[in-house]
Amino acid sequence: MIDLRSDTVTKPDERMRKAMYEAEVGDDVYGEDPTVNKLEEMAAALLGKEDALFVTSGTQGNQIAGLVHCLPGQEVIMESQAHIFLYEAAALSAFSGVQIKTIDGENGAMNPAEVEAAVRGEDIHQPETGLICIENTHNKAGGAVVPLENMEAIYQVAKQNDIPVHLDGARLFNASVASKTPIKEFAKYTDSVQFCLSKGLGAPVGSIIAGSSEFITHARKWRKRLGGGLRQVGVLAAPGIIALEENIVRLQNDHANAKHLAEGLQAIEGLTIKNSVDTNIILVDISNCGLSTDAFVHQLKNHDILTGAFGPNTIRFVTNNGICEEDIGTVVVKVKKIVKA
Ligand SMILES: Cc1ncc(COP(=O)(O)O)c(C=O)c1O
Repeated sequence: MIDLRSDTVTKPDERMRKAMYEAEVGDDVYGEDPTVNKLEEMAAALLGKEDALFVTSGTQGNQIAGLVHCLPGQEVIMESQAHIFLYEAAALSAFSGVQIKTIDGENGAMNPAEVEAAVRGEDIHQPETGLICIENTHNKAGGAVVPLENMEAIYQVAKQNDIPVHLDGARLFNASVASKTPIKEFAKYTDSVQFCLSKGLGAPVGSIIAGSSEFITHARKWRKRLGGGLRQVGVLAAPGIIALEENIVRLQNDHANAKHLAEGLQAIEGLTIKNSVDTNIILVDISNCGLSTDAFVHQLKNHDILTGAFGPNTIRFVTNNGICEEDIGTVVVKVKKIVKA
């Protein structure tokens, strides 16, 4: 099987499994797990933040950020296709008691002027704006890199209005590698950041959230309240360390493979590439090839290729650690066969 459904599907490699086996552990709720502590220190240093926390998932990290930053009854501004809005089961409303105000972005980037216009004033009828969220790279926009200047401009709007900024950076390292910009530069325009270890970086579990020491103190408490205070969890942090030490540069292979795949698919009559393929995600419009998305996905599966439907007439292909250059050629040949038939 060539699995292009997501970059979450990869399995931990030998190095990660060995690191898990050998991990020094302790009770992390007491702050005594040396492997977790090392991972958190590494992550904070990479991001240029005072402190960091290992959490179970990207969703948990985003939700903890909401809980720390917001009060019930407030409003959170984010892009209308943001993962937090579309795919986290309304957790921000369920847990933080906030409502979400969405803004349509361009390639995942919100217009700073529109963000400014969306900030609430003193009117007694209105909620206060408690948080602004940015997503980088932007999943629904096809892994688009939200430009640094855009983040800076939104951060300025936020600071002028005394509002914190949270970055859902599930794939922030893809943005960093693709734009050749240190991850710290992106983190500079945020009050808190979440990034996933379990996507392109290839670890089996976990995310990091980072921010000021005060933010992390509160985040640690919220993680405990949510049942995310784990004990000898160094066995899961150990592959996260390998991910940060060895797998960041590797992301450029995923990006190159995605570019080749996009070129190959674009050359097939009936298919249109919808996104700019900045990183490892390709969105293909199949409306001119006479197949429904379900039928397309099904036929690919019959040819040992796994993908996913991603909205009307759209198929998402995601390159990842389990995909090599040779697979790209195979996929193009097989897709061509299906479309021609
Ligand atoms: C942009 C974005 N944010 C957050 C998440 C949530 O991560 P997790 O699946 O680890 O909860 C995802 C998952 O795909 C994502 O794409």
